[in-house]
Amino acid sequence: MDKKVIVVGGASGVGAACVRSLAAAGASVVSLDRSEEAGREVARQAGQRFRLCDVTDRDQVFTAVDGAAADMGGLDALVHVAGILVQGPAEEATDQDWARAMDINGRGPMLTNQAALPHLKKGERSSITNFASSAALTAYPNGAVYAASKGAVTAWTRTIAVEWAQFGIRANVVHPSAATSMVEQHLSKMNDEEKASYSEMMRQKVPLGGKFGDPDRDIAPVITFLVGDGARFMTGQNVAVNGGYYI
Ligand SMILES: NC(=O)c1ccc[n+]([C@@H]2O[C@H](COP(=O)([O-])OP(=O)(O)OC[C@H]3O[C@@H](n4cnc5c(N)ncnc54)[C@H](O)[C@@H]3O)[C@@H](O)[C@H]2O)c1
Repeated sequence: MDKKVIVVGGASGVGAACVRSLAAAGASVVSLDRSEEAGREVARQAGQRFRLCDVTDRDQVFTAVDGAAADMGGLDALVHVAGILVQGPAEEATDQDWARAMDINGRGPMLTNQAALPHLKKGERSSITNFASSAALTAYPNGAVYAASKGAVTAWTRTIAVEWAQFGIRANVVHPSAATSMVEQHLSKMNDEEKASYSEMMRQKVPLGGKFGDPDRDIAPVITFLVGDGARFMTGQNVAVNGGYYI
């Protein structure tokens, strides 16, 4: 694949799998993350580059994206995977919870997408792939604030798909289900009984396999497809990669 790609959130989980998958497909990748040590190591192992970047800092984002485009001699695609999980009952949500979730999961993609825009405009087949969650599309009890922040990036992506189509830029949003540290964090707050009932719920609700997917085998190949020209007629789509959860 002859593409120059920025992966935002490439230090762990699905983002790290995207760095590996895109590199294996022949793309040039610059990985951005606020987690420096892990980010550098993932990129090094994939033979790619890394730049430190916190997606909530406008200046850092524009500097990192401009630098990454300069490193690669251009930019064809931005994949924004970075996000955080915020959990708790809706009635106990604080202003701080809301601000943190919206800042990282909502404003973060806005900033990286804006920073990438002038570079993506120069190409003819450019793309943006943002990450939301099934929580944006279905109820997510004990995670209303997270769900709202993922609703924000979903709505943002749908609209830029229309506004930026004039520049030949496609924009899609992925709703994954993958076994990562974020999922472990989710499970770690449960007692044994809750974990057992959660596993049973997944078994019943996920027709393909009954559990979370594997970041490398189940999720990242779909992102590599979305970046590629095989997806050239796909834009503004909610792409659920979740084994059939919530069909
Ligand atoms: N794993 C799942 O099942 C699942 C389900 C639904 C949605 N998602 C979404 O998919 C994406 C990836 O999830 P994951 O499970 O791989 O998560 P993860 O926690 O393993 O990785 C997230 C990455 O984002 C980075 N990051 C967080 N805040 C950042 C910031 N302010 N600036 C820069 N980097 C930052 C982290 O350092 C980390 O490398 C997230 O947006 C998540 O909300 C995941």
